[in-house]
Amino acid sequence: MLKHTNTTYTIARDLLGEATDGSRASEDLALWMRARALAGRGLNRTGTRAAGDRLAAAVTRHADTWRARGRIEAIPALEDLTAHLIAEFCLGPETGAVPDLLARLQDALLPPALPLPARWHALRRHRLRRASRDLADEVSALMRRRRATRREDSPPAVADLLDTACEEGALTREGATSVIVANLFAAHETTAAALSWLLLLLDRHPHLRRRVRDEADRELAGRPPTAADVPRLPVAGAVVKETLRLYPPLWLVQRTVEEPTELAGFPLRRGQRVGVSPFVLHRDPHHYDRPAAFDPDRWIERPDTPLPKYAFMPFGGGPRNCLGTHFATTAMTIAAATLTRDYRISQSPGTATTFDTRTILQPHGLTLDVAGPRIIDRDVLDRSIFGT
Ligand code: HEM
Repeated sequence: MLKHTNTTYTIARDLLGEATDGSRASEDLALWMRARALAGRGLNRTGTRAAGDRLAAAVTRHADTWRARGRIEAIPALEDLTAHLIAEFCLGPETGAVPDLLARLQDALLPPALPLPARWHALRRHRLRRASRDLADEVSALMRRRRATRREDSPPAVADLLDTACEEGALTREGATSVIVANLFAAHETTAAALSWLLLLLDRHPHLRRRVRDEADRELAGRPPTAADVPRLPVAGAVVKETLRLYPPLWLVQRTVEEPTELAGFPLRRGQRVGVSPFVLHRDPHHYDRPAAFDPDRWIERPDTPLPKYAFMPFGGGPRNCLGTHFATTAMTIAAATLTRDYRISQSPGTATTFDTRTILQPHGLTLDVAGPRIIDRDVLDRSIFGT
């Protein structure tokens, strides 16, 4: 299904959940695939490495404000962080109102908790379209400004690549704006959900938090991590991977059948909806020992045990896989090392969280207490007093 997307199967809805217009579908698809390939050059390993030196500073800036507040609601706080990370990566240091507009769009997208009369749905769509248009206008203005003011030595941003493509006639300005908007939108909520699960899991597994911290202490010698440090942080990397295995934010990937076919012996008609769930696959005992256990060592101790292709697929697969795989894993590893080394983050006592699957898989209601620096760190004290 994933491999044959764009031919036998299609993604029949855009990122805002709007049905794509059938009459323009193939034209839109060709444009998107070209734009995706261009943006992909900025988002691949080399592109991410170039931007990776600024990620830790943004994490610290946000975490310092959380510490000043003492207690945060995890999802909005982390969405604000990831909106800034991805906006800076795509547009450069000047991000204008993009993070706020992304939050507004996110808000407009949430399905209503109760069934509402048809009039409300029309209003909701209207709000959604306006939020999406405002975001596109702001992105377009920021790209224009960057074009006018960028210097030779400015750190690179994904927008610069798209600009060059526009100058060479490979992309329209409107197309370039849509690619940036698509990336901003696809990136910030997913990465924030994944980081929320990661912080919750590290709080529940203090011995692992200690290992992530010890590794960061040893490898970084007090300086902020960069993308080039990621290979030297295998424990943090394995924690990221294991979090994405247990709690893949996109827990269900859906397609529409474009031409009659057969899947696993089932005949499928045009227009039928099919899906694959990374959440279910990642917990399949055929592929994973003790599949429900949070065990990052499964990625360190047995890194070469071949898993069947697609047994681990938090970023999807095939021609429409995630464009931000490298950026997301790099940003998450840097955030895990920085937040664990320099702050003490734990679930607020007396609070509970539940699964929220309304849009993506999130720990609903997660509240975190943020303290630091770690001079009076409980783990360190425990170790020095009790030797644990
Ligand atoms: C932990 C974080 C993330 C997860 C779990 C995730 C997951 C996914 C998945 C499963 C898909 C495929 C959806 C499908 O097949 O229908 C996807 C698509 C996409 N992702 Fe991500 N993503 C993450 C972060 C990012 C980031 C950081 C970016 C950009 C920098 C990004 C950009 C995109 C784009 C543009 C698409 C659409 C690709 C297309 O339709 O051709 N994602 N993502």
